Amino acid sequence: MSTQTPMAATAALAEAATAAVRAPSAHNTQPWRWRVGGDALDLYADRSRQLAVADPEGRMLTISCGTALHHARVALAAAGWAATVGRLPDPADPDHLARITVADRTDVTPAAMRLLQTVSVRHTDRRPVVETALPDGVFEQLRQAATAEHTGLHPLRPDDLAELAAASARANEIGITDPDQRAELAQWIGGERPDGTGIPDSALPARPPQSAVPASDWGHPGTLTVGPGHDLRATYAILFGRSDTTMDWLRAGEALSALWLTATERGVAVLPLSTVVEIVATRERVRRILSRLDYPYLVLRLGLAAPDKPAPARTPRLPAEQVIERTQ
Ligand SMILES: Cc1cc2nc3c(=O)[nH]c(=O)nc-3n(C[C@H](O)[C@H](O)[C@H](O)COP(=O)(O)O)c2cc1C
Repeated sequence: MSTQTPMAATAALAEAATAAVRAPSAHNTQPWRWRVGGDALDLYADRSRQLAVADPEGRMLTISCGTALHHARVALAAAGWAATVGRLPDPADPDHLARITVADRTDVTPAAMRLLQTVSVRHTDRRPVVETALPDGVFEQLRQAATAEHTGLHPLRPDDLAELAAASARANEIGITDPDQRAELAQWIGGERPDGTGIPDSALPARPPQSAVPASDWGHPGTLTVGPGHDLRATYAILFGRSDTTMDWLRAGEALSALWLTATERGVAVLPLSTVVEIVATRERVRRILSRLDYPYLVLRLGLAAPDKPAPARTPRLPAEQVIERTQ
């Protein structure tokens, strides 16, 4: 830390962790914990909020923590700090996912400031997208955002959609008929939870939207008005990479955040579909859509958000002081 006081660095890191509470996570579990002190901010997985039945390996947990890591990086860039990120810095502690340290100040670009503003408006929209394809070049921008985070984004061809639809329907069926899955879903989906986690009814469609590829079916209708429309012009895409490790999932989460913020700036709604990649058999089917050398991390529906529809109410978050610990 050559030019700044340690206190300024610690305050900036604490603010970055606070901004990161808005990151998206599977079922809004927010499975992260931050520790801040000196010139370092440490990110840990919080296994108490892992989906033990749906996500026993912690894939979705790690992707979710990756989105929080990227959000923190965005906040530091907007505050003019050059951040260095060490991923999985402690081989003896696999839950220690990242350590961010800050050194010198950097110039703040308008793009960095805009990205931080986008953090507070980004949300999941499960309603149908408009029946107009993504404008030229937009998919390529989203792919570049993912690639910059070392993760691929593969667009599905129309021929692949039937296979994705069949695999998604099968995954939903397996999930919804398994009593353990249902019990776990009931902990997170629908209703109101005072603790600031889970998906409230106001973010869940009142009826399944019409779509070629079935969206997540958690067996719980919400109160979000669906309206007309179909996903016919949506683009489905797979976040993927060359290996299938915790490091890859963490990077995939950073890529998801990066592309989601970029998409939000372009008026594109992003809807992750995780059930189909959580179940081993259906994940294999998704893998076959990719080249056999690659591994799928998450399926995404991308489409133009209806401009006239107000965003659903913001999903809740845990209080920042519950997930951020100050060590000094
Ligand atoms: C790794 C991951 C997987 C997700 N999977 C799904 C999914 O299968 N279906 C769905 O409707 N939303 C999914 N979501 C969206 C979350 O439910 C959403 O981010 C969370 O409820 C917080 O709401 P927000 O994105 O509006 O802030 C996923 C998000 C992440 C980060």
